[in-house]
Amino acid sequence: MPFLKVENLSLKLENKSILREISFTLDKGETLLIAGRNGSGKSILLKALKGLEKSKGDICLDGEILTKTKDRMRSFSIVFQDTELQIVGTTLYRDVLFGLENLEMDNIEARANEALKEFGLYKIKDRNPDELSGGEKRKLSIASLMATEPKILLMDEPFANLDWPSSKTLIKAIERLKEKKVTIIIVSHEADRILSLTDRTLILKNGEKIWEGASKDSLDELRKNDIYIPENSRFEDLKWL
Ligand SMILES: Nc1ncnc2c1ncn2[C@@H]1O[C@H](COP(=O)(O)OP(=O)(O)OP(=O)(O)O)[C@@H](O)[C@H]1O
Ligand SMILES: [Mg+2]
Repeated sequence: MPFLKVENLSLKLENKSILREISFTLDKGETLLIAGRNGSGKSILLKALKGLEKSKGDICLDGEILTKTKDRMRSFSIVFQDTELQIVGTTLYRDVLFGLENLEMDNIEARANEALKEFGLYKIKDRNPDELSGGEKRKLSIASLMATEPKILLMDEPFANLDWPSSKTLIKAIERLKEKKVTIIIVSHEADRILSLTDRTLILKNGEKIWEGASKDSLDELRKNDIYIPENSRFEDLKWL
């Protein structure tokens, strides 16, 4: 049985069909790339999984059907495309601590410090997050979530605003989570850069799944759907680090 099974997920907003009968499965520890043009429904799909948007269809995690919003909220952690929605603490340190406290985790001070160090934010941990740059905010929101060791991590454009060293930090962090068998769903326009990190790929178009399969077999489908993959690259060439 797959770890995550999404079946016929559909969603309407203001009477407009935004997602239509999306189904896919993921095994524990697998990483899925969701690709698609602007407005294809990627962010809404992540929000529906998390229970932030009301949808039809079933989500089954680890053998349990998640019918209640509360269960979805608890099971999925999400890094939003818009980091402003994410940051709640009055300092960086408190922001990371907040999520850990909510989940009643142990060793929260040590975990918070470790997460801030990993993303190079420790030196500015007492600053007000409002004063951070776009990239710093993104790193903070990712650090806060990764510290909570989620079962499934949803990331919406995690590379947006990140410079090259920060992107490398993020890739290393994703690799580390993969080693820990965390299941990850990444929405990204940088398919060429992260494809090799992922096991499976799902392509959305106008709210419909038009392709899903092993990432190593996805290059031609991605190209066909106007998602940038360098012309002569093979899957093995797409390594970023
Ligand atoms: N509250 C809303 N009411 C009606 N339509 C909405 C609402 N929110 C989003 N949409 C529509 O849903 C569709 C999917 O939006 P979504 O944010 O999921 O796109 P996306 O694939 O994440 O795009 P991008 O790559 O630009 O981030 C878009 O056409 C958008 O206009
Ligand atoms: Mg989006």
